[in-house]
Order: sequence, then structure tokens, then C-alpha cells
Amino acid sequence: MMRGYKFAGGLAAILALSATLLSAPLQPALASDHAAAAPEQQITSLTEMDSLEMGNPIVEPRTLPVTIPPFDKETAEYVLLAWNNLGMHCISDSDPYWILLPPANDIFAQLVRRGDSPEIVTEGVEISYQVEAGFEHPENHVRFWEFADKLFGADLPPGIGVGGLGVNGVMKLEEDHRAFVAPFVPVVPYPDDGSYNPYPIFTITAKDKETGEVLAMTKTVAPTATEMGCKNCHGGGWRVAGVAGFTDATSLDVLAAHDKNSGTNLVEKAQNGEPMLCQSCHADPVLGTKGDPELLSFPAALHGWHANFLTDREGMQACVACHPSRPEGPTQCFRSHHSMFMDCTNCHGTMEDHALSLLKKEHEAGKKGAARLMANLKPRKVATLEEINPRTAWINEPDCLNCHEDFQMGMTVDAFNTWTEGPEGLYRNRHDQMEAMMCEACHGSTHAVYPATFNKLGEKRDSIQPLQYQGNDRPIGNDCTVCHTVQPEFEGHHPNSLRM
Ligand code: HEC
Ligand code: HEC
Ligand code: HEC
Ligand code: HEC
Ligand code: HEC
Ligand code: HEC
Ligand code: HEC
Repeated sequence: MMRGYKFAGGLAAILALSATLLSAPLQPALASDHAAAAPEQQITSLTEMDSLEMGNPIVEPRTLPVTIPPFDKETAEYVLLAWNNLGMHCISDSDPYWILLPPANDIFAQLVRRGDSPEIVTEGVEISYQVEAGFEHPENHVRFWEFADKLFGADLPPGIGVGGLGVNGVMKLEEDHRAFVAPFVPVVPYPDDGSYNPYPIFTITAKDKETGEVLAMTKTVAPTATEMGCKNCHGGGWRVAGVAGFTDATSLDVLAAHDKNSGTNLVEKAQNGEPMLCQSCHADPVLGTKGDPELLSFPAALHGWHANFLTDREGMQACVACHPSRPEGPTQCFRSHHSMFMDCTNCHGTMEDHALSLLKKEHEAGKKGAARLMANLKPRKVATLEEINPRTAWINEPDCLNCHEDFQMGMTVDAFNTWTEGPEGLYRNRHDQMEAMMCEACHGSTHAVYPATFNKLGEKRDSIQPLQYQGNDRPIGNDCTVCHTVQPEFEGHHPNSLRM
């Protein structure tokens, strides 16, 4: 069944793995008739995994039109900055079968009143967001809303996301961040013309609450991808435009593999109209689910299991098996200048390192499943397992300053193994040294920090605000007078912002 496929530790190890899996005590409710429920395996050939292509199409870059909104430094009273917090939000549109990430994009904004000493405005204004034409009806493109009650226990009207917002609406003030936020905007990468576009643009408008006068307007991308490569090994093709989305065949095979190896009856449930949220059993910090405390967390289970099939890969070859970062792919989520001289492994580690960092934490927490998945994985960025610093997914991540010590130029291309301590330490949650502007307001979102010229749909698409306010694609503040009407002499926001 697994032709051309290499499992870490060889055939004996995978058999041993399956044996332990099957002999492990199962939850009674799950142990029942899983064997009968699992249909024939659909994984056919995994040989393609050894090439980067995996039978996927080569998608050439193309340039979609972008209008850069106007800004006149002589007369403008306000500067509005807006961004998506992750740089890429993946969606599993396998809704009738299971789901791991719903349509849910977080859009942030900060409004600044320009002046000799600028001010962040949080009162007396309304900040709204509006999706670009063609993306207004996500409910016509994914089946999420048919199953939202089963998956999330929430009866959501079509087009309304898990945060109660649609693709057009009003942002809420988040005092701690001195920012406005639209959480979980359910935008999908499928415009009405049937194509795949992972970079829809939102228009953000700030109005005076009393007079309705428009104070400032800008645009930003809400990156969102369904190019999640489970089909590369689980079979099935792409559902939409030949490049993205889950087919029934892929979705079903994932469940069949789970039923076979973990003694569940997820296929049967799906066939009875009961799709499951993976994280209802596997805890996940990103969705805030507690899951079954005996089981591995979702990111640890998924990376840990699959790392055993993806050992010794070069560069980001293992990551592109699932993440939408394939250079020839339709999404190519890593879009900053960093991508010219780095790949995922420079910051996150190789597949083995990444998996071990997660599994080690689970092991220390007493999760019995961890040791089995760790047994055949060898760290690559460091010499021994002892040296791997354990981490919790989504909370302990690499940091900019691992390489840019004290905000100076990057002196290394290795950020692996030093993790942010908690959620407040994450780049996406942090502010400058005055607790004023958020890092992402000036630098853009994580994998697309300015200059971010490598967007598949055109080099301006990720740089609308620097182009609007500064006329270049550098970090905002490359020209301090965007916000300060008098050139400041000191580096208030952080060292090296004046490049002195
Ligand atoms: C590199 C190839 C590869 C990719 C890519 C891949 N898988 Fe798998 N997956 C496998 C193999 C091989 C198995 C074991 C199949 C078997 O035992 O029949 C497996 C098993 C699984 C299992 C069952 C695990 C268990 O022990 O119960 C799940 C669930 C799963 N995969 C989910 C996914 C999801 C979701 C994705 C995409 C995000 C994905 N896989 C991508 C190769 C892959
Ligand atoms: C009903 C609860 C339940 C649901 C829903 C569920 N899992 Fe699991 N999962 C389990 C159990 C039980 C195991 C076996 C753990 C063990 O043997 O230690 C497991 C194991 C796994 C493993 C292998 C890791 C390991 O510890 O062997 C992966 C990967 C995995 N699940 C991914 C998924 C994905 C992807 C989904 C959604 C498609 C999913 N799970 C949904 C209960 C669940
Ligand atoms: C088998 C599919 C698969 C492979 C291969 C894979 N990932 Fe992931 N990864 C996922 C999925 C699915 C999620 C979302 C998990 C969630 O919802 O928590 C994810 C989440 C993550 C996260 C956020 C959670 C965390 O661990 O903090 C990081 C970082 C990440 N992946 C990095 C990588 C890197 C780097 C590689 C290659 C070395 C890689 N992944 C390979 C499927 C995969
Ligand atoms: C230059 C360093 C760097 C590189 C290279 C890098 N990442 Fe990240 N990644 C980060 C940082 C920093 C975070 C934490 C950001 C935050 O949320 O504050 C992160 C977070 C993530 C997350 C969690 C979601 C998010 O955006 O916060 C995923 C998934 C992820 N990375 C995948 C990848 C993949 C896949 C690649 C390769 C295409 C990659 N990363 C390359 C630095 C990097
Ligand atoms: C793995 C190490 C590493 C990490 C992590 C990293 N950088 Fe860099 N970065 C570099 C290197 C090396 C350079 C090239 C030298 C330079 O111009 O500083 C660079 C360049 C830059 C530049 C200048 C680009 C140009 O073309 O002039 C900016 C701005 C920047 N990084 C911001 C960030 C931000 C923001 C983060 C966190 C989200 C980050 N970096 C994370 C290593 C890193
Ligand atoms: C008010 C806007 C602003 C804020 C907020 C801000 N920065 Fe910067 N940052 C800049 C400017 C401007 C530069 C100089 C970039 C240039 O002109 O090329 C810079 C430079 C950097 C560099 C050095 C890049 C290089 O290679 O020289 C790093 C790293 C960096 N910032 C990280 C951060 C982090 C992390 C945060 C949040 C803790 C942050 N910045 C907040 C405006 C800002
Ligand atoms: C995006 C708008 C923005 C940009 C661009 C910007 N600043 Fe600021 N700056 C602010 C805001 C807002 C404050 C007030 C912070 C507060 O409310 O705590 C501020 C405050 C300061 C202060 C503290 C003294 C004062 O005037 O309040 C200094 C010093 C400063 N900035 C320096 C700079 C330098 C140097 C640059 C260019 C490298 C720069 N700023 C670019 C928005 C900006």
C-alpha cells in the first residue's frame, strides 16, 4: 500500500507503531466497530512525495490590479493602518467530513491622528471593513454553514463566522492593544468567477461617529488559503480550479486512516451527517479547545505522526507537503524579503525538530502517546533531544529579535529553539517600546513583513500601506513624517528605527 515510501525506523518500526496503537486502551465508545467502518484505504502511491512537485500544477505569478488609496501628507489629518495578524490563514474546506480550521481571518487596525506629537485614536470613531467585489458570499463556495452547528455547536446564519461577523462589518475596540479588531472574518479564497485567489483585499474606513465624515481609508489583504496538501498522500485531487480545496476523496481517506490507526469511527459518523472538529478530541491553543486530556494536542499529533514519514527532507520540502508555501504553487504564503535567503526551517526547525519540540512538551506533560512518535525521530538542528527546547504550539514561537538583536540588522539566519514565552511575547501581539503602535502596524504580518514583494498576484498586493503613505515598500516609519508632522530626533518606537 505504501509503495516507494520510507518510514523512519523502517517497516518494523511502523508495524510496531501500529501494534502499539491498536493495543493501546481505546476509549470504549470509539473502540467498537471501527474496523467495519473503515472503507478500503485510498492512499495509493507516495513516491511523488520525493519530488517537490507531487503532481501539482506549476502556477505562474500574475498581476491582479490593485488601487493604492490616496494620501496627501500636506493635508491629511489621520493615518489608518490595517493588517491581518497571521500572514496566512489556512482553511480546511472538508466540512461534510471533518474540519481543522474554519474560515476565520483576524483583521486589525490602528488609527493615528497626525501631529507634532501624534496620538492613537480609540474613541469617537467607527472603523468598518469591506471585502472586495466577488468575495461577498463565502456561503456559496464552501459548505461550512451546513455543518457549523455540528462542528462548532453554533447555529450561524449563512455568511456569518464563528465570531459573529460577516465579510463586511464594523470592527471592535480592543483596549489592551489600542487597536480595532474584526475577529474571525469568514473570508474564503474563492471569488464568484470560480478561480482561486488567496489574497482578497479589504477596504478599511474610519469615520467620525457623530458626523459620519470619512477620516481615513486604506486597504489590506486578508491572506487565506485552502491549498492544504493532505491530498498529496491521502489521494483525491484539488476541488477548486485544479489548485486548492478538499475533494470528498481526500477528506474521506483522512478519516479512514484515522479509524484504521486510532480505532475511531469517524467515517461512519461523517456518513451519518456528523462531521467532527478534529480539535474536539485533540486540544488546540489556536481554537481554545481542551479536547481529551489523555490525547496529544492537535499540532503535536499531526506534526508528530507525519514527521515519521517525512524524515531527512531538504529545506522546506516537508512543510510544503501540507502548508501552502510551495514556490510553484498558487499561494506561496512566505512573501517577505526573508524568503530570498531563508525557508521555514530557519525559524521553525526541520520537520523532525519541529515535531520533537512539540512532542517533548507533551511527553513532559505525561501524554502517553508522545514517546511512541518520538522513538524514531532524530533532531537535526541540534545534536541531541536534550538540547531541544520543548514548546506549546501557537504560543511558544520564534521571534524577530532572535536574529535582529536589539532591533539591529539580522546577523544570523537561525531562529530555531528560542521561543517566545507566552502569548504576550508573540510578534503578532506585541507593541513598540512605548506600548503604542503594534509591531505589525508598521512591519506587516508575520510571513509577509515589509518589504514583501513576492506575492503571487503582484508585488504591490502586500505593500498597499507603505506605498500609500510613503511611496515605497519599506516598513512604515521609513519616513517618520507619515505620522509626525515634525521630524523626531529620537527613536521613540525602538532602537534602529531611524537607522542611526
Ligand atoms: C507525506 C504524506 C502525507 C501527507 C502530506 C499527509 N499525510 Fe496523513 N498520513 C500519511 C500516511 C502515510 C498515513 C498512514 C496511513 C495508513 O496507516 O494507512 C497518514 C495518516 C493520517 C492520519 C491517521 C493518523 C492516526 O494515527 O490515526 C490522519 C488523521 C492524517 N493522516 C491526516 C492528515 C491531514 C489532515 C493532512 C493534511 C493537513 C495529511 N494527513 C497529510 C501521509 C501523509
Ligand atoms: C473522537 C475523538 C477524535 C477525533 C474527532 C479525532 N481524533 Fe485523532 N485521535 C484520537 C485518538 C483516540 C487517537 C489515538 C491516540 C493514541 O493511540 O494514543 C488519535 C490519534 C491521532 C493521530 C496520531 C497521533 C497519535 O497519537 O498516534 C493523528 C495524526 C490524529 N489523531 C489526527 C486527527 C485529525 C486530523 C482529526 C480530524 C480529521 C482527528 N484526529 C480527529 C481521537 C480523535
Ligand atoms: C502533515 C501536514 C503538515 C506538515 C507536513 C507540516 N505541517 Fe505545520 N501544520 C499543519 C496543520 C494542519 C497546522 C494547523 C494546526 C492547528 O490547527 O493547530 C499546522 C500548524 C503549524 C504551525 C503552528 C502551530 C505550532 O506548531 O506552533 C507551525 C509553526 C507549523 N505548522 C510549521 C510547520 C513547519 C515548519 C513544517 C515543515 C518543517 C510543517 N509545519 C509541516 C500541517 C502540517
Ligand atoms: C523569518 C522567520 C520565519 C520563517 C522563515 C517562517 N516563519 Fe513561521 N513564524 C515565524 C514567527 C515569528 C511566528 C510567530 C508569529 C506570531 O504569531 O506572532 C511564526 C508562526 C507560524 C505559524 C503559526 C501561525 C502564525 O502565522 O502565527 C505557522 C503555521 C508558520 N509560522 C508556518 C511557517 C511556514 C510553513 C514557513 C515556511 C513557508 C514559515 N513559517 C517560515 C517566523 C518564521
Ligand atoms: C532567522 C533570522 C531572522 C528572523 C527570525 C527575522 N529576520 Fe529579519 N532579517 C534577517 C536577516 C539575516 C536580514 C538581512 C539583513 C538585514 O537587512 O537586516 C533581515 C532583514 C530584515 C529587514 C530588512 C529588509 C530589507 O530588505 O532591508 C526587516 C525590516 C526585517 N528583517 C524585519 C523582521 C521582522 C519584523 C521579523 C519578525 C517578524 C524578522 N525580521 C525576523 C533575519 C531574520
Ligand atoms: C512606528 C513604526 C514601527 C513600529 C511600531 C515597530 N517598528 Fe520596527 N522598524 C521601524 C522602522 C521605520 C525600521 C527601519 C526600517 C527601514 O527603514 O528599513 C524598523 C526596523 C526594525 C528591525 C530591523 C530591520 C533591519 O534589518 O534593520 C526589526 C527587526 C524591527 N524593526 C522589529 C520590530 C518589532 C519586533 C517591533 C515590535 C516590538 C517593531 N519593529 C515595531 C518601524 C517600526
Ligand atoms: C504610524 C504612525 C507613526 C510613525 C510612522 C512614527 N511614529 Fe512616532 N509616534 C507615533 C505615535 C502614535 C506616538 C505617540 C505614542 C503614544 O501615544 O504613546 C509617537 C511617539 C513618538 C515619540 C515620543 C515623543 C512624541 O512625540 O510623542 C518619538 C520620539 C517618536 N514617536 C519617534 C518616531 C520616529 C523616529 C519615527 C520614524 C522612525 C516615528 N516616530 C514614526 C506614531 C508614529
